[in-house]
Amino acid sequence: MTQQKGIARQKIVIAHRGASGYLPEHTLAAKAMAYAQGADYLEQDLVMTQDGQLVVLHDLFLDDVSDVAERFPNIQRENGRHYVIDLTLEQLLTLHMTERVDAHGTPRFPNRFPPKQSYFTANTFNQEIELLQGLNCSTGGLVGLYPEIKSPEFHHEHGLDLASAMLDALKVYGYVGRDSGAIVQSFDATELQRVKHELMPERGLDLPLTQLLSGAEPSQLGLAEIATYANNIGVSLAMLFGNNSQSVSVEPTDVVKQAHEHGLAVHVYTLRADQLPTPFTDLDDLHQFVFERMGVDGVFSDFPDRSVRFLNR
Ligand code: G3P
Ligand code: CA
Repeated sequence: MTQQKGIARQKIVIAHRGASGYLPEHTLAAKAMAYAQGADYLEQDLVMTQDGQLVVLHDLFLDDVSDVAERFPNIQRENGRHYVIDLTLEQLLTLHMTERVDAHGTPRFPNRFPPKQSYFTANTFNQEIELLQGLNCSTGGLVGLYPEIKSPEFHHEHGLDLASAMLDALKVYGYVGRDSGAIVQSFDATELQRVKHELMPERGLDLPLTQLLSGAEPSQLGLAEIATYANNIGVSLAMLFGNNSQSVSVEPTDVVKQAHEHGLAVHVYTLRADQLPTPFTDLDDLHQFVFERMGVDGVFSDFPDRSVRFLNR
């Protein structure tokens, strides 16, 4: 591996749900492809099953990425959704996972991997860590994990402590210190502060944390507070572009500059070659904007090969 490969590179590419521009999100196939494309980190969105097992899925429900409605019609809730938390791990692993579709079965991204084609399953957090560590072993790479604590309050309401289970797993697999190759992210500030001040000290862990932000630009006070427990912020493209969420015709915000002044690195989500914000028509123009004009430190990318190629050009 070269000096440009892996966690050592200054600006990072995080494979958003794997190489999800090419294969169904969060499948091991998508993760292996992202690894081979040179991503620095693989992202895991984490939710829990009825029996308290960590699985790598973006949504609390399974309807848009699997055949759950046909397989387990009886677990449907009043809102028409079939929830991960209503299935055991054994049941979940029998599902066929597919490219993401909408409520009508139409692909979210028409030019990506065709829905209901080939054979994919969901996977546990442990299975994905073992895939990553196996690839690090067989290739000599230094690719890291970037797990997200999804909806911690929902899990607490169901008697499940997702953050604790995630940290226990990370510790078992050797992710302990600041440079061990795992970054923990969440939109939930309360839970991230609990991770920082209670859960990691109890376990002797000191992992870097990313506070994900959505909506409006954070205030200076917000960033100062975030800097007391987090190392990075995760911001939407809209947050870089100011009030007009889909256009850069307005002046870009100074959120990156402000974050850097508070010692926070900035990782932006989500770069997609097939869903570019106006007025961009080319992913590399967007890469140039976020990396060079805005000075972001990392990108969550559905097309990690393209983002790696831009940084290595
Ligand atoms: O975690 C960063 C980015 O993935 C946030 O968006 O909804 O894809 O998890 P989401
Ligand atoms: Ca995520």
